[in-house]
Amino acid sequence: MKQLSTDHLLGIKYLKKEDIDLIFNTADHFKEVINRPIKKVPSLRDITIANLFFENSTRTKLSFELAEKRLSADIINFSASQSSVKKGETLIDTVNNILSMKVDIVVMRHPNVGAGVFLSKHVNAKIINAGDGAHEHPTQALLDSYSIKETLGTVKGKKVVIIGDILHSRVALSNIFALQLQGATVKVCGPTTLLPKYISSLGVKVETNLKKALAWCDVANVLRVQHERMDIKYFPSIREYTQLFGINKEILDSLGKKIVIMHPGPINRGVEITSDVADSKQSIILNQVENGVAIRMAVIYLLAQQIKK
Ligand code: CP
Repeated sequence: MKQLSTDHLLGIKYLKKEDIDLIFNTADHFKEVINRPIKKVPSLRDITIANLFFENSTRTKLSFELAEKRLSADIINFSASQSSVKKGETLIDTVNNILSMKVDIVVMRHPNVGAGVFLSKHVNAKIINAGDGAHEHPTQALLDSYSIKETLGTVKGKKVVIIGDILHSRVALSNIFALQLQGATVKVCGPTTLLPKYISSLGVKVETNLKKALAWCDVANVLRVQHERMDIKYFPSIREYTQLFGINKEILDSLGKKIVIMHPGPINRGVEITSDVADSKQSIILNQVENGVAIRMAVIYLLAQQIKK
C-alpha cells in the first residue's frame, strides 16, 4: 500500500505532489463511504486521537471529530478555554499528560506559528496541524483543491485568485503551496496593507483591482478580514473595504463568464461577500465543508497506517 512521504501533516510545504494525489484518491473512497446509508468503517478501531483546540473553531473541529468517528477511532476533545492551560500549564506538559493516556494522533489548532512543528519534535505521536496562527492550515488547503478538482475536473492549469486579508491568513499560504504544487497559477488581491511583502517571492502575482482579478480567474477564494489578528488599522473603514474588495452579484454578472466562488468560512456576510453570492449556484462553500470530512478521513487514515502497534 502507498504511504505518505511525511510522518506528520504539519504544512503543505512538507508535502510532495504524490502525497496530494494519494490523499485525494483516498478521499474519493471515503466520500463514497460517507454517502452510504451506513457511514462508518471499522478501519481505526485500535487508534486513539486527541483533538486539542487552543483557538476557536467550528468547521475544522467538527469536521475532524466526525472524520474520526466515521473511521471508528476513539477520541478525546480538549478546549484550552476550559482547561488547566488557564492555570498556567505549558503546551508540552498539557500534551504529555494527554499522551500518557496512550494517544496515537494529535490534531492541534494553536495561535502560535510553528506550534505543530514544535510538538512533533517533543512528543511521540502523529501530529496534524489544524491551523497554527497566520502560518498554515493544511487540511483546509487540501479540501479547497479537492473541491476545485471536483468542480472543474482538474487543478492543473487553473487560474485561482485569493482575495482579502492575505497577511493574516493561514488559508492563503497553504492554498498557495497546494495550488502551485498541482500546477495552478495563483494571484492575490486585496488592500496593499493586507498583502505580505514577501508574497512575490512565492511566485504569486498581485492584482489590487478586484474586477481585473475576477476577469482573469477561473476560481475566486474569498477570505475573511481577521480583525482578531489586527492590532492596528489596515484600512479606513469596513464600508470602504466592501466597496473595493467585496464580492457582489453585480460585479460577478459584469464579467460575462461564470467563475467558481469559494470561502473557507466563517463568512462575514455583507463585508467580503454578499449573501446572494455566498448562497448562489456559483458558490461551492458548502461542498468545501462536505469534502472536509472525506479529506480529513484520508489524512488520518494514511498517517495511522504508519503506526506500528
Ligand atoms: N475554515 C476554518 O478553519 O473554519 P473554523 O475556524 O471554523 O475551523
